[in-house]
Amino acid sequence: MTKTTLKHLLCSTLALALLGGCSSPSSASQVSSDSEKQEQQTPAPEPTPEPTPSQDGERSLVVYFSRTGEQYGVGVIEKGNTAIVAEILAEETGSDLFEILPAEDSYPYTYDELIDVAKKEQAENARPAYAGTVPDLSQYSAIYIGSPVWWGDWPMILYTFFENNAEGLAGKTLYPFCTHAGSGLAGFDQKLSRTCPDSTVGEGLAIAGTTAQSDADSVRSSVQDWVKRIR
Ligand SMILES: Cc1cc2nc3c(=O)[nH]c(=O)nc-3n(C[C@H](O)[C@H](O)[C@H](O)COP(=O)(O)O)c2cc1C
Repeated sequence: MTKTTLKHLLCSTLALALLGGCSSPSSASQVSSDSEKQEQQTPAPEPTPEPTPSQDGERSLVVYFSRTGEQYGVGVIEKGNTAIVAEILAEETGSDLFEILPAEDSYPYTYDELIDVAKKEQAENARPAYAGTVPDLSQYSAIYIGSPVWWGDWPMILYTFFENNAEGLAGKTLYPFCTHAGSGLAGFDQKLSRTCPDSTVGEGLAIAGTTAQSDADSVRSSVQDWVKRIR
């Protein structure tokens, strides 16, 4: 992406963080447990895994959305920045993993095209469908939810997840995390609180996408510090 585009994104981030805002509905997903993440591109019924007890005896789940392909500052990547953080977080907390995958993977793998598609989704307040079956959220006491920052906000497919699972998320403590290219958490916590008013939202974690891609030790250390603070 050009510097001008990034500048535009970051300015938008600040503006959107101040304005906030969220909203409504749609569809299916995909489950994996710990490191046994399954790749799946089409909606298909998935067996819900038995939740894994975490280190403190309570069960927790890491839900994440992440893209491969061309990403800002890291070139063409085979594992998404947020996916890297999510997997380390799951290891550190003994959590199950659930990846939000689009039901129809129409997201481009070139950066400039992807930001245009994401901008359009945001402008239309879209609710893109996801594939697979969300695990039974009642099994988990804590749910970590992470994604890249897209245009200063959660990608719209996360709003689909929040809204489709409002009942399951109610009464839970949700911990937002993100990877980004400079905007930090971008108000993910406040936006999550507004979208899931019946959940408790804990402190969030923001990690630069470039760090996620290049420095796993630093990511692990940040995750460990964060988990110590919040649990
Ligand atoms: C559509 C789109 C919009 C983005 N908007 C922002 C933004 O507003 N602020 C920011 O810091 N980074 C922004 N980025 C950069 C991503 O948040 C960052 O590269 C992230 O680590 C990508 O994570 P992923 O590989 O898990 O998808 C954007 C990237 C894309 C593709």
